[in-house]
Amino acid sequence: MSGPLAPLVRIPPDIVCVVDYEAYARERMTPSAWAYLSGGAADERTLADNLAAFTRLRLLPRVLQDLTSAHTRLELLGHSYEHPLFIAPVAYQRLAHPDGERAMALAAAAMRAGMVLSTQSSTAVEEVAGHAGAPLWFQLYIQPDRAFTRELVRRVESAGFKALVVTVDAPVNGARNREQRAGFALPEGIRAVNLDGMQQPSSHTAAAGESPLFASPLVGSAARWDDLASLRAETALPILLKGVLSPADARRAIDFGVDGLIVSNHGGRTLDTTVATLDALPGVVQAVAGRVPVLMDGGIRRGTDVFKALALGARAVLVGRPCMWGLAAAGAVGVVHVLHLLRAELEMAMALGGCATLADIKPAALWPTTPA
Ligand code: FNR
Ligand code: LAC
Repeated sequence: MSGPLAPLVRIPPDIVCVVDYEAYARERMTPSAWAYLSGGAADERTLADNLAAFTRLRLLPRVLQDLTSAHTRLELLGHSYEHPLFIAPVAYQRLAHPDGERAMALAAAAMRAGMVLSTQSSTAVEEVAGHAGAPLWFQLYIQPDRAFTRELVRRVESAGFKALVVTVDAPVNGARNREQRAGFALPEGIRAVNLDGMQQPSSHTAAAGESPLFASPLVGSAARWDDLASLRAETALPILLKGVLSPADARRAIDFGVDGLIVSNHGGRTLDTTVATLDALPGVVQAVAGRVPVLMDGGIRRGTDVFKALALGARAVLVGRPCMWGLAAAGAVGVVHVLHLLRAELEMAMALGGCATLADIKPAALWPTTPA
């Protein structure tokens, strides 16, 4: 049996949109790594619904608008970005390509895209920062070992990261059935290097009749609102909370002094049958009432998806699996192409929707789904 194919050296002409990368990526990863990357939790209803939510919305084009000074720039947390596309934090990028996070950071620099590096990066934070030409954000999982977490934040600050993205929707693993069926395990040489030296909580296997999850040490050490308050007191970096779907949680997060929110369900990988992120977005945007920027991720595959998210109040979007498809298929060049395709389609949607700037993309750009 032959193994995965080598990364492409030239982009074939039949790749004309983001999803065209998926098949090329799959052929270049092992079946178990592919199951890890592409899978969601349980029956993968949320994974599918994140995508379906975009197809449920229809656009209402506007004609004859002046587009002479059109652009996609935005200001976010004190930085200027050329476009609203960010690379989502995705663990273990060396599963997709030997250059992993370094290649992703190069692509981010080339595309002037913001990149969020995962706590579970397979490359050290300092090394990734050395390849960065655009502002990097760090995605933080608050670890059971809080002293280690504080040290990690210090490292991230010293390496020049510009914001912390605290992911709060995965305190325990979801039912990753696709991964389990494929027997996924990290291959030799790929691990969460930034957590080297940390005391891992002992793994817990409950016997029949014992509590399968609540008795595990992971539950007792999971992050709580108090931890967010401590983190707020310990760092001057802007903090974004990732994995918020509930308007009540959004309000509470603002009371704790967060600087931004990311509406996300972890790409459908944690709790299955949650609401699609696009459907949750308006409620969070309304609760936040402009006090902090709201970003979103989950299911962005087309420029029109970005446009719809912005129309519902997102300031920017994060792109997860598609960037990994580009990385697996063709390294940094593939990621550049994925982001370039999305940006080109976003600009088309803006031009045809009569929007010269991101601020012009309003709910009125969507065909009303409920009677006015
Ligand atoms: C993720 N995601 C994720 N999120 C996070 O905060 N920290 C992480 O380490 C990871 N790791 C990770 C691995 C893989 C393989 C995937 C697919 C996703 C979630 C990610 O940041 C994002 O929320 C989703 O991927 C967005 O959905 P799409 O764009 O993949 O549909
Ligand atoms: C995942 C974890 C690493 O989604 O966030 O696989």
